[in-house]
Amino acid sequence: MSSDLGTKVVIINFKAYAEVDGPKAVDLAKTCEKVATETGTNIIACPPMVELSKVAGSVGIPVLSQNIDPKKPGSATGWITPSMVKSCGCAGTLINHAEHKVAPEVVGEAVKMAHELGLATVVCANTVEDAIVLAKYAPEYIAVEPPELIGGDISVTSADPAIVKNTVEQVKAVDPSIRVLCGAGVKTGKDVEAALALGADGVLLASGVVKAKDQYAVLKDLVSGL
Ligand code: G3P
Repeated sequence: MSSDLGTKVVIINFKAYAEVDGPKAVDLAKTCEKVATETGTNIIACPPMVELSKVAGSVGIPVLSQNIDPKKPGSATGWITPSMVKSCGCAGTLINHAEHKVAPEVVGEAVKMAHELGLATVVCANTVEDAIVLAKYAPEYIAVEPPELIGGDISVTSADPAIVKNTVEQVKAVDPSIRVLCGAGVKTGKDVEAALALGADGVLLASGVVKAKDQYAVLKDLVSGL
């Protein structure tokens, strides 16, 4: 059992920025929902962990957890179980973000447990080589993000288009059903357009939206590239 979040996705990772502390997470998720509704596009919100339940209960767009730990309900103090994430109303989860790396076997177990609950999985990879290894776990999405470009001003699609193209080719060679996303420095509709032209099925981004003065305007511009 797994959940399909579709193609041409724009996933907004809220990370743990102060700009989305407390009720501001719901505010940004509502802005994402407004733009998704107005434009008929597929925007997905990925709020801070402690706001998951509130955000998922406040918007109709899909909500992702930023991580899950492959732990069963019970004696797992402080861990985030797939069951908790499902109960919060999430449609899926990121796994292995560059800022929250885990061993490949842990990724495999997390993907398996997520799928048992019908949660979609977006597994992050720092390199093409990582992506090839992680493709064998058959997540719905692999998002390639070179860590050195994360939070910067130059989009991966301009700074390193080869990593996007090669990840698409290599991941599809392992499992053609996996959708490949790219991220790091993505900020504009032109960056999104470039990602799709390189064969990606969408983007994963954070600072370009979360830290923007006018989040609505940035989101509108981003989806114009789909
Ligand atoms: O998860 C998205 C992320 O790591 C990229 O961050 O700020 O470069 O869009 P940013």
